[in-house]
Amino acid sequence: MTRTPVIAGNWKMNLTKRKASSLAREVAAHHGASTSRRCIVFPTYVHLDHVRRNLRGSGVVLGAQNCWGKKEGAFTGEISPYMLRDMGAQLVLIGHSERRHVFGETDAWIAEKVKIALKAKLEVMLCIGETYEERQASKTYEVLERQIQALKVVQNQYVTKISLAYEPVWAIGTGETATPGMAQDAHQESRRMASDILGADVAEQMPILYGGSMKPSNAAELLRQPDVDGGLVGGASLSIDQFGPILDAVSGS
Ligand code: 13P
Repeated sequence: MTRTPVIAGNWKMNLTKRKASSLAREVAAHHGASTSRRCIVFPTYVHLDHVRRNLRGSGVVLGAQNCWGKKEGAFTGEISPYMLRDMGAQLVLIGHSERRHVFGETDAWIAEKVKIALKAKLEVMLCIGETYEERQASKTYEVLERQIQALKVVQNQYVTKISLAYEPVWAIGTGETATPGMAQDAHQESRRMASDILGADVAEQMPILYGGSMKPSNAAELLRQPDVDGGLVGGASLSIDQFGPILDAVSGS
């Protein structure tokens, strides 16, 4: 198994320009020139350029939290994946649970975004995950399978540009974390579903990150699971005191 671990910070709608810039410098310094892991930060759109400048020279990758599903046109207030690429973003989160549940994004809409973001030469991190009610009703795999169908739009030339983030909705921002066993089961099953669409070789190489109240105290054990290839961290990515130890957990486990 040759998947490089990935630790990503989703800063959501947080921080000022000054704080985002200084956090970027701290993450860059902490990550250093490490090649044993990949480190990504997802600032809000308006901070992308400042963060990019503060990451310069480091190996930290810049990503955006969302994009629109069209190249350009009359879509007031929206951002094209081509603009993100032009701004220096290398990758984009698509289908984050807040986009699905707060903003009502549908699977069809998400698939459109995946398609155009790849065409714009961005890497895509597709987020999937069940709600508390869906898990209680034993529908977790059914939901993941439905959400993973978005991979059907991925053309052959882009298959290595895709990663998944499994984020159980009930664990996001709640302090509740999936147990390592629950995360492993969901990741293994997601990889199997992805392999039905993209082929076994691609699925085997594809990073699958866990997200949902990851913190220094639980990161190492989650990351030790064979199909958990990294973490997509929300709250704990907003300070280097928390994010630093999570970055280090990949090598320390
Ligand atoms: P928390 O780590 O705050 O639970 O957020 C997870 C998340 O949504 C990352 O995208």
